[in-house]
Amino acid sequence: MSDAEHATEDVLDLLAEEHHEAEQMLEELSSQDKQEHDPRELADRLTASLVRHSVAEEMYVYPAMREHLEDGDAAVEHDISEHQELEELLKRLEGLEPGDEQWPEVVAALRETPADHVADEENDHFPRLRAEVPEDVLIDLRDKVEMAEQVAPTRPHPSAPHSELFHKIVGPGVGMVDRLRDALAGRMTG
Ligand SMILES: [Fe+2]
Ligand SMILES: [Fe+2]
Repeated sequence: MSDAEHATEDVLDLLAEEHHEAEQMLEELSSQDKQEHDPRELADRLTASLVRHSVAEEMYVYPAMREHLEDGDAAVEHDISEHQELEELLKRLEGLEPGDEQWPEVVAALRETPADHVADEENDHFPRLRAEVPEDVLIDLRDKVEMAEQVAPTRPHPSAPHSELFHKIVGPGVGMVDRLRDALAGRMTG
């Protein structure tokens, strides 16, 4: 993809791409015969990508839903509770090995929970956000989400709210984007 094409993609395109990648990983994890990757490694990669995605959505995209959608507060509460469910499943998967009896059951549950969640986001919440929020704001949100994903945790922490986890890493409240940049710079040099 050229830089010019990349520049026109907004946060909603990015999140939809990530949904698609997660679905592909889940499909590979649940297929019996055509596994290209080591299942434990694939499970860890899936977990990292879903945890980062959920944290970044909660920090930057759900606040926009609260602000711009009429039923935004209810939609966000619903979506956050589904992230929580997802994270509990990821935590169970973390404690299992591919040969374990419970592994296929947890993988199957992992395919169901996000499928419903992703359908809500892509068919309902995201199109309404795109209709309400100016494109330059959505493009700016993409940068913020990409930064947030780089500093977000990669392991599931079902007992702590994502906003708390995130603020532990970048510091609270005001000037969050600057703090995010500092955290990122520290990670690259340290
Ligand atoms: Fe999502
Ligand atoms: Fe989500």
